Amino acid sequence: METTDALVKRRLELFVQHVDDVPPLPQIAMRVLEMLESPSASATDLERVILSEQTLAMKILRMANSAFFGLPRSVASLRDAIVFLGFRKVSSIVVGLATFDLFGARRAEETDLFRARLWRHSMLCATCSRRLAESRHDGPPEQAFMIGLLHDIGETILERYARDQFAEVIRLYEETGCPIMDAEAKVLGFNHAELAGALCENWGIPDALTIPIRFHHSPMDAPEEARAAALLCHVANGMAYGLCLEVTEEGPRYVPAEGLTQLPYTDQRAVLALGLDMPRLLLLMEEAGRAALEQESLFRNASAP
Ligand SMILES: [Fe+2]
Ligand SMILES: [Fe+2]
Repeated sequence: METTDALVKRRLELFVQHVDDVPPLPQIAMRVLEMLESPSASATDLERVILSEQTLAMKILRMANSAFFGLPRSVASLRDAIVFLGFRKVSSIVVGLATFDLFGARRAEETDLFRARLWRHSMLCATCSRRLAESRHDGPPEQAFMIGLLHDIGETILERYARDQFAEVIRLYEETGCPIMDAEAKVLGFNHAELAGALCENWGIPDALTIPIRFHHSPMDAPEEARAAALLCHVANGMAYGLCLEVTEEGPRYVPAEGLTQLPYTDQRAVLALGLDMPRLLLLMEEAGRAALEQESLFRNASAP
């Protein structure tokens, strides 16, 4: 008799085979992710990869010159953009643009609220992840940003490739209040985090990203070497859910929900393990919320046709 783990694994394998036409992240994003793992990769290598797609190079230049990055002078070449912004930041821009396309976020803005909402949630989680990592000085903030961008990729794939089952998941969730992870397990036999982990592994995405994504809802179970990153993504996900869009005196921005005393959908052990408390989290959420909208429009504008 198969164990539950083996059953989940087999169901996942079947699903991944069934959707083997799922387009992975574009080749360029995959090469950039590989380069992040390689100690010998240089700015010249990154430049060469990006220049193989002229439109991407143009988008990056457009972003580098936006007020968001506040560079001391405008940059005219991709090389300058990499020098001023840094290898990792430019890499995370490439992955961010790829995710924007993968989520079909542009079309979704007009036609599909679910996809648009998921893209905004991922961008918000990525921004919170980066802010958390910066504040803790214990891992590369841009890596945390990329994990945040990709953490719910399993939901995108389910929504696109298992429409009927996913509709059933949403129905269960809405009608019974059953947590989305449980609804997924009931209908599909696995959840979106497990699916994302299997897909990222298939696509050859480095373990440093794949494992935290796989464990973003169960960070305490993550293997030791990836636990810190999984905890960070889990807490950032709760921070993203705890932020709401509001019109303030400074204009629209994300602010912590009023009267928030605990992060939604968050295991308190993860908060404790990171040595955080609510006052500190609220402060970090304020800071991330301030940057998030600007960041959203940055990617939207850069992806404009
Ligand atoms: Fe998730
Ligand atoms: Fe999420």
